[in-house]
Amino acid sequence: MQMPTPDHRPRPRILCVVGARPNFMKMAPIMAALSEYAPELDARLVHTGQHYDKSMNHQYFDALGIPAPDINLEVGSGSHAAQTADVMRRFEPALDEIRPSAVLVVGDINSTLACALVAAKKSIPVIHVEAGLRSFDRSMPEEINRILTDQLSDLLFTTERHCRDNLLREGIAETRIHFAGNVMIDTLHRNLQRAVPVADILRHAGRKDFPADRGGFAVVTMHRPSNVDDPHILGRLLDTIAQAAHRLPVIFTIHPRTRSMIDKFGLRRKLDVPRLLALPPMGYLEMLGLMKDARVVLSDSGGIQEETTALGVPCITLRNNTERPVTVDEGTNILAGQDPERILALLDETLRTGGKVGRIPEFWDGKTSVRIAQTIRSWAGKGFPR
Ligand code: UD1
Repeated sequence: MQMPTPDHRPRPRILCVVGARPNFMKMAPIMAALSEYAPELDARLVHTGQHYDKSMNHQYFDALGIPAPDINLEVGSGSHAAQTADVMRRFEPALDEIRPSAVLVVGDINSTLACALVAAKKSIPVIHVEAGLRSFDRSMPEEINRILTDQLSDLLFTTERHCRDNLLREGIAETRIHFAGNVMIDTLHRNLQRAVPVADILRHAGRKDFPADRGGFAVVTMHRPSNVDDPHILGRLLDTIAQAAHRLPVIFTIHPRTRSMIDKFGLRRKLDVPRLLALPPMGYLEMLGLMKDARVVLSDSGGIQEETTALGVPCITLRNNTERPVTVDEGTNILAGQDPERILALLDETLRTGGKVGRIPEFWDGKTSVRIAQTIRSWAGKGFPR
């Protein structure tokens, strides 16, 4: 039932979309801020179901207090084409049912692009949060999603100053671009006090004996196709992680994609190393607890580059490029690529010196979602101009 406004007109609807793990921590503060700062808008939520495992999904909704989705499209996994097409086919009738005034997408996953494309073709304005990030590496599926989603969007919220130049270069009108800051950092600020202590994570995993004292261990995550889909590259990276465990205790939280590749290529024994603890994917509060007390984080995730910068924890990124250059220019991030020698040299340097010291980037202040909600409110007040 649509709640009427005082003058009995239905409230304009904003249809928010999530699909996979990195979307959830972005959407949680946006939906909360829309309800508080733009109450005349009726924010609804669609989950495409791109991620469906409890560890990649429900844990986040519960921990972050995200409202239950109005609709779950249950698309699941597939090739890029099949997954994107499935989201599109199932999202169209959802749009017809909900009839929103605008669709809000976040990030750069397949669901982001698929829903933006369906909305744009139905002449429904698109809002993109986390616009303008570019790795300039089109072999990355997310880079294609970013470029195309931005082309389809009417209101583009950016996280760092470089993004505006990237968007202008691609012909996006300046009036559409709004520098709002990083919404993931809103979530981080809100939840830091609730982060799960490492000792609790180890107890829950039945590994109370694992020697991960505060500030004395490394956290590793890895899931990019470029790192995990090739047996040779994955094998070398697993050997590198095992080498790292000679230097300090390592907690490796293993993404389902990585887990299935390790099994497929028969690489499981590479993880049987003292002081290397392999764990399933963590919930948000658990991951925050691990990162905040880590001496160093090694990862190929986009979000973790940002979270470690916000936490002031050194991050060694297992990629040659980043779409988030502010984490390198101002934050604690160093690009290491896939070369074991370089990764281990950077790790040794980090252990010797305490690691790269950074500062908090502009507008990563915990108030990004408020700026976003206020901008959407004023745009809605003008009738959602394209
Ligand atoms: C997706 C995003 C990526 C993001 C990542 C975070 C795209 C193109 N990629 O990558 O940008 O950084 O999510 O996790 O959208 N699987 C499960 N259970 C799940 C989900 C996935 O077992 O709940 C396994 C399946 O084997 C699946 C594989 O992981 O085939 C990959 O899942 P998919 O959603 O295609 O991409 P991710 O690698 O998770």
